[in-house]
Amino acid sequence: MDNQVHEMHHPLIMHKISILRDKETTTRDFRELVYEIALLMGYEATRDLETVERPVETPITQTTGKFISKQVALVPILRAGLGMVDALMSLIPAAKVGHIGLYRDHDTHEPVEYYCKLPSDISERQILVLDPMLATGGSAAAAIDFIKKRGGKKIKLMCIIAAPEGVKAVAEAHPDVEIFCGTIDEKLNENCYIVPGLGDAGDRLFGTL
Ligand code: PRP
Ligand code: URA
Repeated sequence: MDNQVHEMHHPLIMHKISILRDKETTTRDFRELVYEIALLMGYEATRDLETVERPVETPITQTTGKFISKQVALVPILRAGLGMVDALMSLIPAAKVGHIGLYRDHDTHEPVEYYCKLPSDISERQILVLDPMLATGGSAAAAIDFIKKRGGKKIKLMCIIAAPEGVKAVAEAHPDVEIFCGTIDEKLNENCYIVPGLGDAGDRLFGTL
């Protein structure tokens, strides 16, 4: 599991997550911070994207450029994963975007699916699953199951705040999926919220508190 999980430990990311946690942070700032953190994490999560060489003519001479060869699919888990899409799209404008709609049942904390639409060539693509919160891991593990059932093979998960319980659950259910976390928090509380966490990410992102 150690090679599978990457915690960012980067001062810029730590700083921005600390503001994100603050209950006084406005919806507007929250959205902007999620964008900025996803952008910084995107740099790490795309570090091993395959490249191909092609000739490029600069104003000075001919050279060989390296270009991303594998197509990418971004798959946000609705709702809160939507907050990370624009950042990744600005890094990889040619990426296609699939959507998986899941919510946690308030009593059982189990994920309930309500939407799934993925690119038809999902099996060919490097897939980045996006969700700012990895709590019990139920939503992420279910989303990855859906993607695999529809042919997805090369999958990474990006989350901003994770609980140790969620990291363990996803790592056990999907040992082939690398997990990129902004930070790993202390624990889950009795309502399966991450402690210290930031509360309900979807509500804070969309102002539905
Ligand atoms: C949140 C979050 C994750 C999920 C994490 O979504 O965005 O998808 O909870 O919890 P888990 O790891 O225990 O499954 P939520 O269910 O609140 O739905 P929402 O984004 O529509 O508010
Ligand atoms: N979902 C959230 O949005 N926050 C948590 O702490 C746990 C699940």
